[in-house]
Amino acid sequence: MNIKDKKAIVLGGTSGIGLSIAQQLSDAGATVIAGSRREVELPGIETVSVDVQDRDALSELFEKHRRFDILVNAATGGDREVKPLLDMDLDRFQGTFAKLWGYVNSVKLAAPYMASDGCMVLISGYPARKWRQNMLAIGTVGGAVEAFVRHAACELKPLRINAVSPGIIDTPMSPLQGEQRQQNYENLTRNNLIPRAGTAAEVASAAMFLIENDFVSGTIVDVDGGAILGG
Ligand SMILES: NC(=O)c1ccc[n+]([C@@H]2O[C@H](COP(=O)([O-])OP(=O)(O)OC[C@H]3O[C@@H](n4cnc5c(N)ncnc54)[C@H](OP(=O)(O)O)[C@@H]3O)[C@@H](O)[C@H]2O)c1
Repeated sequence: MNIKDKKAIVLGGTSGIGLSIAQQLSDAGATVIAGSRREVELPGIETVSVDVQDRDALSELFEKHRRFDILVNAATGGDREVKPLLDMDLDRFQGTFAKLWGYVNSVKLAAPYMASDGCMVLISGYPARKWRQNMLAIGTVGGAVEAFVRHAACELKPLRINAVSPGIIDTPMSPLQGEQRQQNYENLTRNNLIPRAGTAAEVASAAMFLIENDFVSGTIVDVDGGAILGG
């Protein structure tokens, strides 16, 4: 797909990975609408306040931009449980699936309003295929996202749908600051093949590849610094 002059909706497009994808799409000449719950102003990018759990609001947004070409959903969707299975609160584990339902809502509700040669990109995460302490809930959700992408790609063709699976990425998702933040990223990535946190721009460039390459669908691209192969 030639991105120039295409219309893209990027959910979770006001921070971190989604914001970087929105900026790269805009730089490539797309008209970009970035959505999240907060009201945010972004230079050169239209923003809209929308909750990916609000199906009516999503439908209204997609209908308003009918025949749009690109859907990206990078919204975290809600809170996540970060504990070992035996210590975790099961309601919080179930709540972690808010990310999956936000993705499912957007894919199902957007598809009828998209150009038939359009494409979608979701964001999973390396714990989908790699055990890490406290990541069981996030990994389970990531695995569901990746299975959803493969099934949806088969059902929605010729629309294309793919996912990027990031490793540890330095984004506002982490509330830590300064030395503590640096130390945390060092600890989390020490055994990776590339021992540092990735940048949102590095993840966004994989999303751009998936959007631009018309011969790719139902695929997961890992941008994880070798986290899956590392220790
Ligand atoms: N950062 C990492 O290390 C990492 C690693 C693996 C996977 N991921 C995945 O990458 C994706 C993006 O993460 P990130 O690090 O870029 O996070 P981030 O910087 O915290 O950005 C999350 C974005 O999602 C939006 N959002 C959250 N809940 C929403 C909802 N219910 N409705 C609409 N928008 C919502 C947020 O805006 P509002 O709060 O204003 O709604 C924000 O724009 C997530 O799916 C995450 O699981 C991240």
